[in-house]
Amino acid sequence: MSRRRRIYEGKAKVLFEGPEPGTLIQYFKDDASAFNNQKKGTITGKGVLNNRISEYLMMRLEGMGIPTHFVRRLNMREQLVREVEIIPVEVVIRNVAAGSFAKRFGMAEGAALPRSICEYYYKSDELGDPLVTEEHITAFGWASPQDLDDMFNLALRINDYLSGLFLGAGIRLVDFKVEFGRLYTQDDMRIVLADEISPDNCRLWDTKTNEIMDKDRFRRDLGGVAEAYQEVARRLGILPESGPQEVPSAKMTA
Ligand code: TMP
Repeated sequence: MSRRRRIYEGKAKVLFEGPEPGTLIQYFKDDASAFNNQKKGTITGKGVLNNRISEYLMMRLEGMGIPTHFVRRLNMREQLVREVEIIPVEVVIRNVAAGSFAKRFGMAEGAALPRSICEYYYKSDELGDPLVTEEHITAFGWASPQDLDDMFNLALRINDYLSGLFLGAGIRLVDFKVEFGRLYTQDDMRIVLADEISPDNCRLWDTKTNEIMDKDRFRRDLGGVAEAYQEVARRLGILPESGPQEVPSAKMTA
């Protein structure tokens, strides 16, 4: 790991000071946690795969006009990002009933939803990331009504685009979590996609077999976690057959 100043350390990533003001370096660890940190483990190679998968998805989203914090991947485990003020709200979009949603409403995992559903969770480890409403978010000032409107619209556009992208790779995007931040420029502020998009924060099922290809393999002790992440990368066309050691650097198309 580099000797740059450490700004923040999370469960799966570390943020370091970037080379220029307004930038950060996002380092992807192999550490995994679940159930609000009650389950911990290491998945060898996960950081390398998530760095590459998130780079690819963020670049594709940028290409669709979705603003993101992503600048470029630096090496196997690090990417350069713009420094943003993280909004303490996790936005979850669900296309199919699964996980906590299936439990809450007594639905079978895999049951169809009448339409895609957006949920908000307050980012707080002490409180276990509780489900919150728009009222809570605006009343407590975590986000303004305008911020929230932007977040909701961006999350739905991300869902539309990624659902199609994954479908083309034989993968169903069951649900996912995204985070947004405020990017300040001279006299302007805009909401941008931040954090990462990877099998750590998506549910991805094989369209034919329903095989789980995401972090639920770790949460539920199904084994083959790194192999599943690798298969996601391979199907997206970003992993050479020989494995993650030879992950090539992507070029910005915009
Ligand atoms: P859930 O069904 O456990 O609420 O998860 C919904 C989606 O959000 C799923 O794709 C996993 C993701 N997620 C995170 O990325 N971080 C979290 O802390 C939680 C609880 C879920």
